[in-house]
Amino acid sequence: MALPKWRKGPGIYNESKNLPIYQHKATLQQAVKDNSFLVVTGETGSGKTTQLPQYLHQAGFWSNGKIGITQPRRVAAITVAQRVSQEMHCSLGREVGYQVRFDDCTTQDTVVKYMTDGCLLREILADPVLSQYSVVILDEAHERSLNTDILLGLLKQTLSSPDKASKGRCVPLKVVVMSATLETDKLSVFLGGCPVFTIPGRTFPVTSKFSCAIGPKDTESSVYVKEVVKVALDVHTSEMAGDILVFLTGQSEIEKACDMLYEKAESIDYRYDVQDHKVEGLLILPLYGSMPTDQQKQIFQPPPPGIRKCVVATNIAATSLTINGIKYIVDSGFVKQLNHNSRVGMDILEVVPISKSEALQRAGRAGRTSAGKCFRIYSPAFWEKCMPEYTVPEIQRTSLTAVILTLKCLGVHDVIRFPYLDRPEERFILEALKQLYQCDAIDRRGKVTRLGELMVEFPLPPGLTRALLQAASLGCEDLLLPVAAMLSVENIFIRPEKQKEADKKHRQLGVQAGSCNDFTMLLSVFEKCKASDAPSAWCKDNYIHWRALKSAFSVETQLREILLRLQKKRDFPMEKFDGNKSELFRRCLCTGYFTNVARRYGVLHNGWAWIHEHSIKSPKCILHISPHRSLFDQEAQLDWVIFHDLLVTSRIYIRTVCPIRYDWVKDLLPKLHEVDVYELSSVAREEVTDEEVAKWVTKEAAKRQTDVFKKLEK
Ligand code: CDP
Ligand code: MG
Repeated sequence: MALPKWRKGPGIYNESKNLPIYQHKATLQQAVKDNSFLVVTGETGSGKTTQLPQYLHQAGFWSNGKIGITQPRRVAAITVAQRVSQEMHCSLGREVGYQVRFDDCTTQDTVVKYMTDGCLLREILADPVLSQYSVVILDEAHERSLNTDILLGLLKQTLSSPDKASKGRCVPLKVVVMSATLETDKLSVFLGGCPVFTIPGRTFPVTSKFSCAIGPKDTESSVYVKEVVKVALDVHTSEMAGDILVFLTGQSEIEKACDMLYEKAESIDYRYDVQDHKVEGLLILPLYGSMPTDQQKQIFQPPPPGIRKCVVATNIAATSLTINGIKYIVDSGFVKQLNHNSRVGMDILEVVPISKSEALQRAGRAGRTSAGKCFRIYSPAFWEKCMPEYTVPEIQRTSLTAVILTLKCLGVHDVIRFPYLDRPEERFILEALKQLYQCDAIDRRGKVTRLGELMVEFPLPPGLTRALLQAASLGCEDLLLPVAAMLSVENIFIRPEKQKEADKKHRQLGVQAGSCNDFTMLLSVFEKCKASDAPSAWCKDNYIHWRALKSAFSVETQLREILLRLQKKRDFPMEKFDGNKSELFRRCLCTGYFTNVARRYGVLHNGWAWIHEHSIKSPKCILHISPHRSLFDQEAQLDWVIFHDLLVTSRIYIRTVCPIRYDWVKDLLPKLHEVDVYELSSVAREEVTDEEVAKWVTKEAAKRQTDVFKKLEK
C-alpha cells in the first residue's frame, strides 16, 4: 500500500515525539486491533487527542473506514483538527477534517474526522452501525457530557449484540474511550471489563493558595471578575516569568476582565513595579467557545520574548485544550453550567461553584512542564461549604428531551432501562417524556409521532423546532427560519464601551422592527442585514456582530435545506391560518414555547425575574427596563410573555422575550399538566420562597394561572 504523500514529509512529528504518549505508540496500535472496546487514560496534555488518531491512521485503520473522534466541545473539535492537519501536513478538510453543528469541514477524502459528540449521535440516527467508520474514539469521557454518555450506552448496546453490530459492516467497529484520570475502572466495568491503558504522566508539583476574597455567598459576577483581575496583576508584577491562565465563567465576564486587565496593565512601570526584570509586558488573550477560530489559534502560540501571556478562559482550558507554558493559575472557583431546575421545569444557565475535583484539574494546568502555582480567589470555607466533591454528570442535571427523542427514534423504547453509565433520576426521564408529549413528538403511549420524526431531523432545541415546524405547516417558515438561526449563533448585539450609543442604535432597530418583541427584532435584523449592499458596514454601524450574523446566514440556509428535504415527503403536515402576520408569527412561537410562558403575577410586588439587559431592544420597553427593574414595571402588554431561556446569576433573567395573548396559549396550557405523573407532586408549593422563580409563572404556576383564569372566565 502506497503511503499518502503527506506522511513522507519531515515535520511536526519531531515535536510530538516528546509527548508522554509517544513511547506507547506500538502498544496502543496493537491494543486497538485486539479489542473492540478500549479505555485510554492519561494526564491532560499527554497527547491522547492529537496523537492517538494519527497512530491509528499510521496503523492503517483508515483503509476500513474513517477514524472518528468525538469532543464534547465544538472549539476543541475545531482547534484540534487544525492542529492535527498541520501535523499531518494536509489542508484542513481534506484527510483531516472536523464537523460541528452547522459547520461541516470534511470532504470525501476525510479519514480522520474530529466532531462533536452531538454530531456523531446524529450520524447514528441515519446509520446505527456507523458503517463509515473503522474506529470511533469517544474523547473526554470524564467530562461526562450528555451526548457522550448516551453514545457510550448506544455503542455498548450495539456492540454487545453481535447480530446488530455486524449488520451492514465488513469489519467490526472498534471503540476507544479516552478520559483524563477519573473513573476509568467504572468505564471499564460498564464496557464489559475492557482493558484500560494508562499513559504514565509526568506532572510537577503545584502549590495552591486560598484567599479570603470570595466567601460562600459571592456569586455576583462583578465581585469575582474584579478579584481575578487583581490577583492576575499581582502575579504579573510579583512572580517570576511564566504564563498565567485565569479561569472565569463566560464570554461577558471574560471580556470584562480582559478590558480591566488592559486598562490596569497600561499603568505598570516595568522599571519599578515588576519583580522579574525579564518580564517586560503582558499579552492578554480571551478564550471562550464562541470566539472566532483564528483568534483561538493565537492562544497556542508562544508569546514574544519578554512578554508574559495571560489567557482568560472558560472551563474549556481545564481539559479540552492544553496551553503550553502555563505556570500560574488564577481560579475564580465558578463555572457557568446548564442545570435542570425541576421547580421551573427547564434548563437554566447558572453560575455555580466548581467541584473540588474540577479545582484540582484547574490547578494541575500549572504543573505540566515545571512546578507551578495556583491562586484561588476563594476561602477555605468556600471550598468546604460550597464546592461538591465531584461534578455531577450532565445527564443527571440537564433536560433529556432531545436525547430521549433521539433514543426513541433509534428504536430504544424503554428509555428508563437504557444502559446509562449513571442513571438519571426517573423523574427527569418522565419530565422529558412529558415535554415530548407536549410538543406532540410522542403520543400518549410514548410512541414517536410523525411530527416527532420530523423534529429529530433538526439540530435545535425541541421547542424551537416545534415552532419552526408549525410555521412551515402554515407556509410561513420564512419568519421562523431566520429566528431559529439567530438563536443558534452567539449573541449578535455588541455592547462595547460606547454602551449608550450601541443601546441607542439597537433601540432604533427596534423601532424599525415595529414591535416590542425580541424575536421580531432578530428577524428584522437578519432581513435588513441580508438586504444591505454592504452588510458588514451595516453591522458596524448598528453595533451588530457581523461574524455572528454571517454564521446565522449559513445556519439559516442549512435549516432551510433540512426543511425542504422534509417538505418533499408527501405527508408533511399543512394547515391554514387567517390573521395578520405578527399574530401568526407569535402564535407559531407559542406552539413551541408555551412551556416557557411567564406572566405578571398579582399586584406590584418585589420583583422576580428580570428581562435581561440584552433582551427587548424596542423602544416601548427599553425605556422602562433595566436589569435592576422588575417586569412588574412594564406596560400591560407585557402581561403574558414567552421567552427563549433563563439565566440565573444572583438574579433570574428571562432572555429573548415576546409578548403574547393569553388566548393563544390558553388551549395549550392544560397540556402542561394533562399527563402529569410525577413532576407536579415533587414541586411542593410551600417550598417556593420569595427569591425564587416559581412565582414567575412557568410550568406549574401556569396551571395555577389556568385555574385562576378558568374561575375568572366563569
Ligand atoms: O488529549 P491530551 O490532553 O492528552 O493532549 P493533546 O490535546 O493531544 O495535547 C498534546 C499537545 O499538543 C499539548 O502540548 C498541546 O499544547 C498541543 N496542542 C497544540 O499545541 N495546539 C492544539 N490546537 C492542540 C494541542
Ligand atoms: Mg484531550
